Amino acid sequence: MLKKVNFNALFFMEKTIINTYIDQNKERVLNELLELLKIPSVSADSKYKQDVLKTAEAIKTRLMEAGADKVEVSATKGFPVVYGEKIIDASKPTIVVYGHYDVQPADPLELWHSPPFEPVIKKTELHPEGAIFARGSCDDKGQMYMHIKAFELMMKTNTLPCNVKFMIEGEEEVGSPSLGAWIIENKEKLKGDVILISDTSIIANDIPSIDTGLRGLAYMEVEVTGANRDLHSGVYGGGVANPINILCKMIAGCHDENNHITIPGFYDAVKELSEVERNELNKAPFNLDAYKNDLGVKDVWGEKNYNTIERTGVRPTLDVNGIWGGYTGEGAKTVLPSKAFAKISMRLVPDQNSDKISELFQKYFESVAPKSVSVKVKPHHGGEPVVVSIESPGYKAASMAMEETYGKKPVPTRGGGSIPIVALFKQELGLDSILFGFGLDTDALHSPNEHYGLFNYYKGIETIPLFYKYYTQLTSKK
Ligand code: BES
Ligand code: MN
Ligand code: MN
Repeated sequence: MLKKVNFNALFFMEKTIINTYIDQNKERVLNELLELLKIPSVSADSKYKQDVLKTAEAIKTRLMEAGADKVEVSATKGFPVVYGEKIIDASKPTIVVYGHYDVQPADPLELWHSPPFEPVIKKTELHPEGAIFARGSCDDKGQMYMHIKAFELMMKTNTLPCNVKFMIEGEEEVGSPSLGAWIIENKEKLKGDVILISDTSIIANDIPSIDTGLRGLAYMEVEVTGANRDLHSGVYGGGVANPINILCKMIAGCHDENNHITIPGFYDAVKELSEVERNELNKAPFNLDAYKNDLGVKDVWGEKNYNTIERTGVRPTLDVNGIWGGYTGEGAKTVLPSKAFAKISMRLVPDQNSDKISELFQKYFESVAPKSVSVKVKPHHGGEPVVVSIESPGYKAASMAMEETYGKKPVPTRGGGSIPIVALFKQELGLDSILFGFGLDTDALHSPNEHYGLFNYYKGIETIPLFYKYYTQLTSKK
Protein backbone atom coordinates (compact mmCIF):
# COMPACT_ATOMS: atom_id res chain seq x y z
CA MET A 1 0.00 0.00 0.00
CA LEU A 2 2.73 2.40 1.04
CA LYS A 3 4.69 1.55 -2.07
CA LYS A 4 1.75 2.40 -4.27
CA VAL A 5 1.29 5.82 -2.67
CA ASN A 6 4.94 6.64 -3.21
CA PHE A 7 4.78 5.54 -6.80
CA ASN A 8 1.77 7.77 -7.43
CA ALA A 9 3.43 10.74 -5.80
CA LEU A 10 6.44 10.32 -8.05
CA PHE A 11 4.32 9.86 -11.10
CA PHE A 12 2.44 13.08 -10.46
CA MET A 13 5.62 14.99 -9.85
CA GLU A 14 6.83 14.10 -13.29
CA LYS A 15 3.71 15.15 -15.00
CA THR A 16 3.01 18.60 -16.24
CA ILE A 17 0.57 20.87 -14.48
CA ILE A 18 -1.87 20.40 -17.33
CA ASN A 19 -1.96 16.62 -17.25
CA THR A 20 -2.18 16.49 -13.49
CA TYR A 21 -5.14 18.85 -13.50
CA ILE A 22 -6.90 16.82 -16.18
CA ASP A 23 -6.27 13.56 -14.35
CA GLN A 24 -7.59 14.93 -11.09
CA ASN A 25 -10.73 16.35 -12.69
CA LYS A 26 -11.30 13.77 -15.37
CA GLU A 27 -14.68 12.52 -14.26
CA ARG A 28 -16.20 15.88 -13.39
CA VAL A 29 -15.02 17.43 -16.64
CA LEU A 30 -16.73 14.62 -18.54
CA ASN A 31 -19.92 14.62 -16.47
CA GLU A 32 -20.40 18.32 -17.01
CA LEU A 33 -20.30 17.82 -20.76
CA LEU A 34 -22.76 14.92 -20.51
CA GLU A 35 -25.16 17.21 -18.61
CA LEU A 36 -24.89 19.80 -21.36
CA LEU A 37 -25.56 17.17 -24.02
CA LYS A 38 -28.82 16.22 -22.34
CA ILE A 39 -30.39 19.56 -23.25
CA PRO A 40 -31.76 19.36 -26.81
CA SER A 41 -30.61 22.76 -28.10
CA VAL A 42 -31.87 22.32 -31.66
CA SER A 43 -31.88 25.82 -33.14
CA ALA A 44 -33.74 24.87 -36.31
CA ASP A 45 -36.88 23.64 -34.56
CA SER A 46 -38.99 26.13 -32.56
CA LYS A 47 -40.21 23.25 -30.42
CA TYR A 48 -36.84 23.35 -28.65
CA LYS A 49 -36.75 27.10 -28.05
CA GLN A 50 -36.79 26.76 -24.24
CA ASP A 51 -34.04 24.15 -24.37
CA VAL A 52 -31.83 26.36 -26.50
CA LEU A 53 -32.27 29.17 -23.96
CA LYS A 54 -31.65 26.78 -21.09
CA THR A 55 -28.37 25.71 -22.71
CA ALA A 56 -27.25 29.35 -22.92
CA GLU A 57 -27.94 29.72 -19.19
CA ALA A 58 -26.06 26.51 -18.40
CA ILE A 59 -23.02 27.76 -20.31
CA LYS A 60 -23.19 31.08 -18.52
CA THR A 61 -23.05 29.26 -15.17
CA ARG A 62 -20.14 27.11 -16.32
CA LEU A 63 -18.18 30.10 -17.56
CA MET A 64 -18.68 31.88 -14.25
CA GLU A 65 -17.63 28.81 -12.29
CA ALA A 66 -14.54 28.52 -14.46
CA GLY A 67 -13.55 32.03 -13.44
CA ALA A 68 -14.73 34.32 -16.23
CA ASP A 69 -15.84 37.89 -15.53
CA LYS A 70 -18.69 39.94 -17.02
CA VAL A 71 -20.47 36.75 -18.01
CA GLU A 72 -23.80 37.42 -19.67
CA VAL A 73 -26.42 35.86 -21.86
CA SER A 74 -26.51 38.62 -24.45
CA ALA A 75 -29.69 39.04 -26.48
CA THR A 76 -29.71 39.05 -30.28
CA LYS A 77 -32.62 39.08 -32.70
CA GLY A 78 -32.61 35.32 -32.37
CA PHE A 79 -30.96 33.06 -29.81
CA PRO A 80 -28.54 34.76 -27.42
CA VAL A 81 -24.77 34.80 -27.41
CA VAL A 82 -23.05 33.78 -24.19
CA TYR A 83 -20.25 36.19 -23.48
CA GLY A 84 -17.58 36.15 -20.80
CA GLU A 85 -14.01 37.38 -20.43
CA LYS A 86 -10.90 37.40 -18.32
CA ILE A 87 -8.67 40.38 -18.77
CA ILE A 88 -5.48 39.93 -16.83
CA ASP A 89 -3.27 42.57 -18.42
CA ALA A 90 -4.14 45.05 -21.16
CA SER A 91 -0.65 44.78 -22.59
CA LYS A 92 -1.06 41.04 -23.21
CA PRO A 93 -2.76 39.58 -26.29
CA THR A 94 -6.45 38.73 -26.25
CA ILE A 95 -7.74 35.45 -27.62
CA VAL A 96 -11.40 35.50 -28.65
CA VAL A 97 -12.92 32.04 -28.43
CA TYR A 98 -15.89 31.31 -30.68
CA GLY A 99 -18.10 28.22 -30.50
CA HIS A 100 -21.74 27.26 -30.77
CA TYR A 101 -24.08 25.66 -28.26
CA ASP A 102 -26.87 24.88 -30.72
CA VAL A 103 -27.06 21.52 -32.46
CA GLN A 104 -28.55 20.02 -35.60
CA PRO A 105 -31.93 18.27 -35.44
CA ALA A 106 -31.52 14.64 -34.39
CA ASP A 107 -33.75 13.02 -36.98
CA PRO A 108 -34.02 10.43 -38.39
CA LEU A 109 -34.49 9.25 -34.82
CA GLU A 110 -35.03 5.60 -35.68
CA LEU A 111 -31.45 5.31 -36.90
CA TRP A 112 -29.93 6.20 -33.54
CA HIS A 113 -28.70 3.23 -31.48
CA SER A 114 -29.29 5.22 -28.30
CA PRO A 115 -31.44 8.32 -27.75
CA PRO A 116 -29.68 11.44 -29.11
CA PHE A 117 -30.06 13.45 -25.91
CA GLU A 118 -29.17 10.66 -23.49
CA PRO A 119 -25.40 10.49 -23.90
CA VAL A 120 -23.73 7.09 -23.58
CA ILE A 121 -20.09 6.10 -23.88
CA LYS A 122 -19.21 3.28 -26.22
CA LYS A 123 -16.02 2.03 -27.79
CA THR A 124 -15.63 2.12 -31.56
CA GLU A 125 -12.90 1.02 -33.93
CA LEU A 126 -11.58 4.57 -34.26
CA HIS A 127 -12.22 5.36 -30.61
CA PRO A 128 -10.94 2.36 -28.64
CA GLU A 129 -10.90 4.49 -25.48
CA GLY A 130 -14.58 5.24 -25.86
CA ALA A 131 -16.67 7.95 -27.46
CA ILE A 132 -19.63 9.98 -26.24
CA PHE A 133 -22.69 9.30 -28.38
CA ALA A 134 -25.09 12.23 -28.43
CA ARG A 135 -26.26 14.97 -30.77
CA GLY A 136 -23.81 17.85 -30.47
CA SER A 137 -21.12 15.75 -28.78
CA CYS A 138 -18.62 16.73 -31.47
CA ASP A 139 -20.47 19.56 -33.25
CA ASP A 140 -20.03 21.64 -31.25
CA LYS A 141 -20.82 21.25 -27.55
CA GLY A 142 -17.95 18.84 -26.90
CA GLN A 143 -15.42 20.91 -28.79
CA MET A 144 -16.72 24.21 -27.42
CA TYR A 145 -16.72 22.91 -23.83
CA MET A 146 -13.04 21.92 -24.11
CA HIS A 147 -12.32 25.66 -24.21
CA ILE A 148 -14.23 26.36 -21.03
CA LYS A 149 -12.45 23.51 -19.27
CA ALA A 150 -9.04 24.55 -20.62
CA PHE A 151 -9.77 28.06 -19.32
CA GLU A 152 -10.79 26.66 -15.94
CA LEU A 153 -7.54 24.68 -15.88
CA MET A 154 -5.47 27.80 -16.55
CA MET A 155 -7.39 29.77 -13.93
CA LYS A 156 -7.12 27.10 -11.25
CA THR A 157 -3.45 26.43 -11.87
CA ASN A 158 -2.56 30.09 -12.24
CA THR A 159 -1.22 29.65 -15.75
CA LEU A 160 -3.45 31.88 -17.89
CA PRO A 161 -0.83 33.81 -19.88
CA CYS A 162 -3.05 36.33 -21.70
CA ASN A 163 -6.56 37.74 -21.93
CA VAL A 164 -9.50 35.76 -23.21
CA LYS A 165 -13.02 36.54 -24.38
CA PHE A 166 -15.69 33.93 -25.04
CA MET A 167 -18.43 34.31 -27.62
CA ILE A 168 -20.60 31.19 -27.74
CA GLU A 169 -23.55 31.48 -30.10
CA GLY A 170 -26.81 29.56 -30.48
CA GLU A 171 -27.61 29.85 -34.17
CA GLU A 172 -24.64 28.44 -36.05
CA GLU A 173 -26.54 25.46 -37.37
CA VAL A 174 -29.13 27.74 -38.96
CA GLY A 175 -26.59 30.02 -40.61
CA SER A 176 -25.90 32.52 -37.78
CA PRO A 177 -28.61 34.94 -38.94
CA SER A 178 -28.34 37.26 -35.91
CA LEU A 179 -24.67 37.08 -35.06
CA GLY A 180 -23.47 39.51 -37.72
CA ALA A 181 -25.54 42.36 -36.27
CA TRP A 182 -24.51 41.40 -32.72
CA ILE A 183 -20.82 41.55 -33.67
CA ILE A 184 -21.24 44.98 -35.23
CA GLU A 185 -23.03 46.23 -32.10
CA ASN A 186 -20.34 44.77 -29.85
CA LYS A 187 -17.21 45.64 -31.79
CA GLU A 188 -15.63 47.42 -28.86
CA LYS A 189 -16.25 44.53 -26.49
CA LEU A 190 -14.85 42.02 -28.98
CA LYS A 191 -11.52 43.75 -29.48
CA GLY A 192 -8.84 41.13 -29.56
CA ASP A 193 -5.97 39.67 -31.53
CA VAL A 194 -7.15 36.34 -32.89
CA ILE A 195 -10.26 34.16 -32.99
CA LEU A 196 -9.88 30.60 -31.79
CA ILE A 197 -12.45 28.03 -32.89
CA SER A 198 -12.74 24.30 -32.32
CA ASP A 199 -15.49 23.31 -34.74
CA THR A 200 -13.59 21.41 -37.43
CA SER A 201 -11.70 18.13 -37.55
CA ILE A 202 -8.31 16.45 -37.61
CA ILE A 203 -7.36 13.73 -40.10
CA ALA A 204 -7.06 10.96 -37.49
CA ASN A 205 -6.23 10.61 -33.84
CA ASP A 206 -2.63 9.83 -34.77
CA ILE A 207 -2.51 12.37 -37.63
CA PRO A 208 -3.16 15.84 -36.22
CA SER A 209 -4.07 18.53 -38.74
CA ILE A 210 -5.24 22.12 -38.84
CA ASP A 211 -7.74 23.42 -41.35
CA THR A 212 -6.44 26.32 -43.38
CA GLY A 213 -9.71 27.00 -45.10
CA LEU A 214 -13.46 26.66 -44.97
CA ARG A 215 -15.83 26.59 -47.89
CA GLY A 216 -18.52 29.19 -48.31
CA LEU A 217 -22.14 28.35 -48.86
CA ALA A 218 -25.09 29.41 -50.98
CA TYR A 219 -28.26 27.58 -49.98
CA MET A 220 -31.30 27.75 -52.26
CA GLU A 221 -34.82 26.46 -52.28
CA VAL A 222 -36.67 25.95 -55.55
CA GLU A 223 -40.33 25.45 -56.25
CA VAL A 224 -41.51 24.23 -59.64
CA THR A 225 -45.22 24.47 -60.44
CA GLY A 226 -47.03 22.79 -63.30
CA ALA A 227 -50.83 22.68 -63.43
CA ASN A 228 -52.88 24.65 -60.89
CA ARG A 229 -53.83 21.44 -59.03
CA ASP A 230 -52.86 17.81 -58.66
CA LEU A 231 -54.17 15.79 -61.59
CA HIS A 232 -55.13 12.20 -62.41
CA SER A 233 -51.91 10.84 -63.87
CA GLY A 234 -53.87 8.72 -66.34
CA VAL A 235 -56.32 11.31 -67.53
CA TYR A 236 -53.74 14.09 -67.90
CA GLY A 237 -50.46 12.13 -67.88
CA GLY A 238 -48.41 12.72 -71.01
CA GLY A 239 -50.15 15.96 -71.86
CA VAL A 240 -49.17 18.23 -68.98
CA ALA A 241 -45.72 18.89 -67.56
CA ASN A 242 -44.90 16.92 -64.43
CA PRO A 243 -42.98 19.39 -62.24
CA ILE A 244 -41.12 16.58 -60.49
CA ASN A 245 -39.88 15.15 -63.79
CA ILE A 246 -38.91 18.64 -64.93
CA LEU A 247 -37.18 19.53 -61.65
CA CYS A 248 -35.16 16.31 -61.79
CA LYS A 249 -34.05 17.14 -65.31
CA MET A 250 -33.13 20.67 -64.34
CA ILE A 251 -31.10 19.38 -61.42
CA ALA A 252 -29.43 16.69 -63.50
CA GLY A 253 -28.49 19.39 -65.99
CA CYS A 254 -26.50 21.24 -63.34
CA HIS A 255 -23.56 18.85 -63.86
CA ASP A 256 -22.01 17.81 -67.19
CA GLU A 257 -20.44 14.46 -68.03
CA ASN A 258 -17.27 15.49 -66.19
CA ASN A 259 -19.26 16.42 -63.08
CA HIS A 260 -18.39 20.00 -63.75
CA ILE A 261 -21.11 22.47 -62.77
CA THR A 262 -22.83 23.96 -65.82
CA ILE A 263 -24.21 27.20 -64.40
CA PRO A 264 -22.76 29.96 -66.59
CA GLY A 265 -20.18 32.00 -64.70
CA PHE A 266 -20.10 29.58 -61.75
CA TYR A 267 -16.33 29.08 -61.87
CA ASP A 268 -15.39 32.59 -62.95
CA ALA A 269 -14.06 33.65 -59.54
CA VAL A 270 -12.63 30.26 -58.53
CA LYS A 271 -8.94 30.50 -57.75
CA GLU A 272 -7.10 27.53 -59.15
CA LEU A 273 -4.32 26.26 -56.91
CA SER A 274 -0.77 26.62 -58.14
CA GLU A 275 1.15 23.37 -58.68
CA VAL A 276 3.04 24.08 -55.46
CA GLU A 277 -0.17 24.59 -53.48
CA ARG A 278 -1.69 21.51 -55.02
CA ASN A 279 1.32 19.39 -54.06
CA GLU A 280 1.24 20.82 -50.55
CA LEU A 281 -2.45 19.99 -50.20
CA ASN A 282 -1.89 16.44 -51.39
CA LYS A 283 0.82 15.81 -48.83
CA ALA A 284 -1.95 15.24 -46.30
CA PRO A 285 -2.23 11.48 -45.71
CA PHE A 286 -5.38 10.10 -47.31
CA ASN A 287 -6.44 6.50 -47.64
CA LEU A 288 -9.01 6.16 -50.41
CA ASP A 289 -9.84 2.55 -49.57
CA ALA A 290 -10.50 3.38 -45.92
CA TYR A 291 -12.62 6.32 -47.06
CA LYS A 292 -14.73 4.13 -49.37
CA ASN A 293 -14.93 1.38 -46.82
CA ASP A 294 -16.14 3.71 -44.09
CA LEU A 295 -18.87 5.08 -46.36
CA GLY A 296 -19.86 1.71 -47.79
CA VAL A 297 -19.36 2.83 -51.40
CA LYS A 298 -17.58 0.97 -54.19
CA ASP A 299 -16.32 4.14 -55.73
CA VAL A 300 -16.06 7.83 -55.07
CA TRP A 301 -17.59 10.45 -57.33
CA GLY A 302 -16.75 13.95 -58.39
CA GLU A 303 -15.28 16.45 -60.72
CA LYS A 304 -12.92 15.06 -63.35
CA ASN A 305 -9.22 15.81 -62.98
CA TYR A 306 -9.48 16.36 -59.23
CA ASN A 307 -8.99 13.85 -56.43
CA THR A 308 -11.10 13.46 -53.29
CA ILE A 309 -9.00 15.81 -51.14
CA GLU A 310 -9.30 18.49 -53.81
CA ARG A 311 -12.98 17.86 -54.50
CA THR A 312 -13.88 18.26 -50.84
CA GLY A 313 -11.40 20.97 -49.96
CA VAL A 314 -10.74 23.40 -52.77
CA ARG A 315 -13.45 22.82 -55.39
CA PRO A 316 -17.01 24.16 -55.30
CA THR A 317 -20.02 21.84 -55.33
CA LEU A 318 -23.74 21.75 -56.03
CA ASP A 319 -25.84 19.24 -54.10
CA VAL A 320 -29.50 18.54 -53.56
CA ASN A 321 -30.12 18.31 -49.81
CA GLY A 322 -33.76 17.38 -50.07
CA ILE A 323 -36.38 16.93 -52.75
CA TRP A 324 -40.09 16.39 -52.40
CA GLY A 325 -43.48 16.60 -54.01
CA GLY A 326 -46.37 14.38 -55.06
CA TYR A 327 -47.42 11.30 -53.18
CA THR A 328 -44.94 9.72 -50.76
CA GLY A 329 -47.34 7.90 -48.41
CA GLU A 330 -48.00 4.19 -48.15
CA GLY A 331 -48.98 2.23 -51.22
CA ALA A 332 -49.51 3.82 -54.62
CA LYS A 333 -51.54 6.84 -55.57
CA THR A 334 -51.72 7.80 -59.22
CA VAL A 335 -51.19 11.50 -59.26
CA LEU A 336 -49.56 14.04 -61.49
CA PRO A 337 -48.44 16.58 -58.91
CA SER A 338 -48.88 20.30 -59.21
CA LYS A 339 -45.64 21.17 -57.43
CA ALA A 340 -42.11 19.95 -56.83
CA PHE A 341 -39.54 21.32 -54.42
CA ALA A 342 -35.84 20.98 -53.72
CA LYS A 343 -33.27 22.39 -51.35
CA ILE A 344 -29.96 22.87 -53.08
CA SER A 345 -26.66 23.91 -51.54
CA MET A 346 -23.54 25.09 -53.24
CA ARG A 347 -20.23 24.99 -51.36
CA LEU A 348 -18.01 27.82 -52.45
CA VAL A 349 -14.27 28.36 -52.58
CA PRO A 350 -12.10 31.48 -52.80
CA ASP A 351 -12.93 33.94 -54.41
CA GLN A 352 -16.55 33.00 -55.09
CA ASN A 353 -19.16 35.19 -53.45
CA SER A 354 -22.40 33.75 -52.11
CA ASP A 355 -24.68 36.56 -53.32
CA LYS A 356 -23.20 36.43 -56.78
CA ILE A 357 -23.50 32.64 -56.97
CA SER A 358 -27.10 32.74 -55.68
CA GLU A 359 -27.90 35.19 -58.44
CA LEU A 360 -26.25 33.03 -61.12
CA PHE A 361 -28.12 30.00 -59.85
CA GLN A 362 -31.44 31.80 -59.90
CA LYS A 363 -30.89 33.10 -63.44
CA TYR A 364 -29.84 29.68 -64.65
CA PHE A 365 -32.77 27.87 -63.08
CA GLU A 366 -35.25 30.33 -64.48
CA SER A 367 -33.64 30.15 -67.91
CA VAL A 368 -33.66 26.35 -68.23
CA ALA A 369 -37.27 25.88 -67.11
CA PRO A 370 -39.62 25.07 -69.98
CA LYS A 371 -42.67 27.27 -70.52
CA SER A 372 -44.91 24.49 -69.25
CA VAL A 373 -43.85 25.16 -65.63
CA SER A 374 -43.14 28.18 -63.48
CA VAL A 375 -40.14 28.38 -61.17
CA LYS A 376 -39.57 30.18 -57.91
CA VAL A 377 -36.07 30.38 -56.47
CA LYS A 378 -35.57 31.51 -52.92
CA PRO A 379 -32.12 31.94 -51.35
CA HIS A 380 -31.65 30.75 -47.77
CA HIS A 381 -28.45 31.48 -45.87
CA GLY A 382 -25.08 32.13 -47.38
CA GLY A 383 -21.54 32.50 -46.23
CA GLU A 384 -18.18 33.29 -47.70
CA PRO A 385 -15.17 30.99 -48.00
CA VAL A 386 -12.07 31.66 -45.93
CA VAL A 387 -8.39 30.78 -45.98
CA VAL A 388 -6.01 30.87 -43.03
CA SER A 389 -2.34 31.73 -43.52
CA ILE A 390 0.08 29.17 -42.14
CA GLU A 391 2.52 32.04 -41.60
CA SER A 392 0.37 33.78 -38.98
CA PRO A 393 1.35 33.62 -35.28
CA GLY A 394 -2.05 32.02 -34.60
CA TYR A 395 -1.41 29.14 -36.99
CA LYS A 396 2.14 28.72 -35.70
CA ALA A 397 0.98 28.66 -32.08
CA ALA A 398 -1.69 26.08 -32.92
CA SER A 399 0.88 23.98 -34.74
CA MET A 400 3.38 24.14 -31.87
CA ALA A 401 0.69 23.26 -29.33
CA MET A 402 -0.46 20.21 -31.29
CA GLU A 403 3.07 19.11 -32.01
CA GLU A 404 3.72 19.04 -28.29
CA THR A 405 0.65 17.03 -27.31
CA TYR A 406 0.44 14.69 -30.31
CA GLY A 407 4.19 14.30 -30.72
CA LYS A 408 3.83 15.17 -34.40
CA LYS A 409 3.60 18.36 -36.38
CA PRO A 410 0.02 18.87 -37.59
CA VAL A 411 -0.66 18.80 -41.33
CA PRO A 412 -2.34 21.84 -42.90
CA THR A 413 -5.56 20.77 -44.65
CA ARG A 414 -8.62 22.35 -46.19
CA GLY A 415 -11.93 21.73 -44.43
CA GLY A 416 -14.90 21.18 -46.67
CA GLY A 417 -17.53 22.48 -44.25
CA SER A 418 -18.62 26.03 -43.63
CA ILE A 419 -18.70 28.37 -40.65
CA PRO A 420 -20.19 31.41 -42.32
CA ILE A 421 -19.43 33.81 -39.48
CA VAL A 422 -15.67 33.36 -39.86
CA ALA A 423 -15.54 35.61 -42.94
CA LEU A 424 -17.44 38.26 -40.96
CA PHE A 425 -14.92 38.10 -38.11
CA LYS A 426 -12.34 39.21 -40.62
CA GLN A 427 -14.55 41.76 -42.30
CA GLU A 428 -16.02 43.38 -39.18
CA LEU A 429 -13.37 42.81 -36.52
CA GLY A 430 -10.31 42.52 -38.74
CA LEU A 431 -9.45 39.25 -36.99
CA ASP A 432 -8.12 36.02 -38.43
CA SER A 433 -9.55 32.78 -37.14
CA ILE A 434 -7.61 29.68 -36.19
CA LEU A 435 -9.55 26.49 -36.93
CA PHE A 436 -8.36 24.41 -34.00
CA GLY A 437 -10.61 21.38 -34.44
CA PHE A 438 -10.16 18.06 -32.62
CA GLY A 439 -13.02 15.91 -33.95
CA LEU A 440 -12.95 13.33 -36.73
CA ASP A 441 -14.87 13.63 -39.99
CA THR A 442 -16.19 10.13 -39.25
CA ASP A 443 -17.76 11.25 -35.95
CA ALA A 444 -21.14 11.44 -37.71
CA LEU A 445 -21.74 15.17 -37.41
CA HIS A 446 -25.29 16.04 -38.49
CA SER A 447 -25.96 12.29 -38.77
CA PRO A 448 -27.53 9.70 -36.51
CA ASN A 449 -25.13 8.43 -33.81
CA GLU A 450 -22.94 11.50 -33.68
CA HIS A 451 -20.08 10.89 -31.28
CA TYR A 452 -16.93 12.45 -29.91
CA GLY A 453 -13.92 10.51 -28.69
CA LEU A 454 -12.88 10.78 -25.07
CA PHE A 455 -9.32 10.88 -26.35
CA ASN A 456 -10.24 13.88 -28.53
CA TYR A 457 -12.05 15.67 -25.72
CA TYR A 458 -9.20 15.40 -23.25
CA LYS A 459 -6.59 16.02 -25.93
CA GLY A 460 -8.30 19.29 -26.73
CA ILE A 461 -8.30 20.38 -23.09
CA GLU A 462 -4.63 19.47 -22.90
CA THR A 463 -3.65 21.28 -26.12
CA ILE A 464 -5.62 24.54 -25.81
CA PRO A 465 -3.57 25.94 -22.87
CA LEU A 466 -0.44 25.40 -24.96
CA PHE A 467 -1.98 27.48 -27.74
CA TYR A 468 -2.40 30.28 -25.21
CA LYS A 469 1.18 29.87 -24.09
CA TYR A 470 2.73 29.86 -27.56
CA TYR A 471 0.44 32.55 -28.94
CA THR A 472 1.43 34.84 -26.07
CA GLN A 473 5.10 34.07 -26.60
CA LEU A 474 4.97 34.58 -30.36
CA THR A 475 3.11 37.88 -30.19
CA SER A 476 4.78 39.48 -27.18
CA LYS A 477 6.66 42.63 -27.97
CA LYS A 478 10.20 42.41 -26.75
N1 BES B 1 -18.85 22.55 -37.47
C1 BES B 1 -19.52 22.58 -38.71
C2 BES B 1 -18.63 22.94 -39.87
C3 BES B 1 -17.47 22.02 -40.16
C4 BES B 1 -17.50 20.67 -39.83
C5 BES B 1 -16.37 22.52 -40.79
C6 BES B 1 -16.42 19.86 -40.11
C7 BES B 1 -15.31 21.72 -41.10
C8 BES B 1 -15.33 20.37 -40.74
C9 BES B 1 -20.66 23.59 -38.60
O1 BES B 1 -21.40 23.42 -37.41
C10 BES B 1 -21.64 23.35 -39.71
O2 BES B 1 -22.24 22.31 -39.73
N2 BES B 1 -21.81 24.32 -40.61
C11 BES B 1 -22.79 24.23 -41.62
C12 BES B 1 -23.11 25.59 -42.16
C13 BES B 1 -24.33 26.23 -41.63
C14 BES B 1 -24.68 27.47 -42.41
C15 BES B 1 -25.50 25.37 -41.38
C16 BES B 1 -22.32 23.40 -42.78
O3 BES B 1 -21.12 23.35 -43.07
O4 BES B 1 -23.18 22.79 -43.40
MN1 MN C 1 -20.20 23.25 -35.79
MN1 MN D 1 -22.76 21.68 -37.73
